[in-house]
Amino acid sequence: MINSTIVEKIRETPSTITFRFYWEEKVLPGQFIMIWVPGYGEIPMSLSFTGKKKGITVKAYGVPSRKLQELEPGDRIFFMGPYGKPFTESHGKRLLIGSGSGMASLLPLVNQDSTVIVSARNREELLYIGKMQAERVVTITDDGSSGFKGLPHEYLASMDLSVFQRLYVCGPEVMMFKLLPLLMKAGVKAEFSLERSMKCGIGICDSCSIDGFQLCTEGPVVSIEKLSGLNEFGKWKLDHSGKRIEV
Ligand SMILES: Cc1cc2nc3c(=O)[nH]c(=O)nc-3n(C[C@H](O)[C@H](O)[C@H](O)COP(=O)(O)OP(=O)(O)OC[C@H]3O[C@@H](n4cnc5c(N)ncnc54)[C@H](O)[C@@H]3O)c2cc1C
Ligand code: FES
Repeated sequence: MINSTIVEKIRETPSTITFRFYWEEKVLPGQFIMIWVPGYGEIPMSLSFTGKKKGITVKAYGVPSRKLQELEPGDRIFFMGPYGKPFTESHGKRLLIGSGSGMASLLPLVNQDSTVIVSARNREELLYIGKMQAERVVTITDDGSSGFKGLPHEYLASMDLSVFQRLYVCGPEVMMFKLLPLLMKAGVKAEFSLERSMKCGIGICDSCSIDGFQLCTEGPVVSIEKLSGLNEFGKWKLDHSGKRIEV
């Protein structure tokens, strides 16, 4: 197992914290690590910073992610990786669409040719606002406390998507499920980063499968063509015990 020391802890939003640590390994945008949370096992986390000084951005969902958030500068972090297929690099204008903690895996893709759509429940939960060197940042909130009031697919309906070379999407599955038909109709090149319960991260346990497609090794980044053929996407997933539940 790899280990490093937390050198920085940044409170991003009321529910979300970024941890920075040094790790020499080359990691590409979209790849993830499996972080050991003592007493709870390992949980997957995207790298929100992929340079020498790496970073993860952790949102508090259940007990393991809350436990992870208790780490402090000076503590050691234990993990395996990097794992997974990264986003495809593109040149020219790109559109990034991130909801909630989904913005974490998109952050390394932000450059001056990027338009970034950041969505969250409310203004306080918008991630990385004011920190991104992007061409344009648009905010979307469920309650209208910042920017457009509504959901990403509603905002995108009025955008000219043909100006972008490639679109990159990450967020709750229901958000991506609503976006998919719109992007298919627009005929754009797009990639989505998906989430599933992951136990091994290396293709052994099958807990991360969607229609037999193993997200930990063949994903988590999936092309729009592949995604449109996955019948379980937006409908079914396995919970931590392996039971099939509705998304
Ligand atoms: C490849 C990959 C990359 C990931 N990268 C990140 C990341 O960069 N930052 C991050 O915070 N998380 C990320 N996750 C999610 C993370 O691994 C955990 O699933 C999440 O932290 C919840 O863990 P938990 O065990 O604390 O909560 P759980 O006990 O699994 O869940 C508690 C509650 O929160 C809900 N919940 C869990 N996960 C989500 C979610 N993603 N969106 C909405 N509701 C959810 C559950 O349905 C449940 O109701 C990633 C997952 C994958 C597969
Ligand atoms: S997490 Fe075990 S096979 Fe993917």
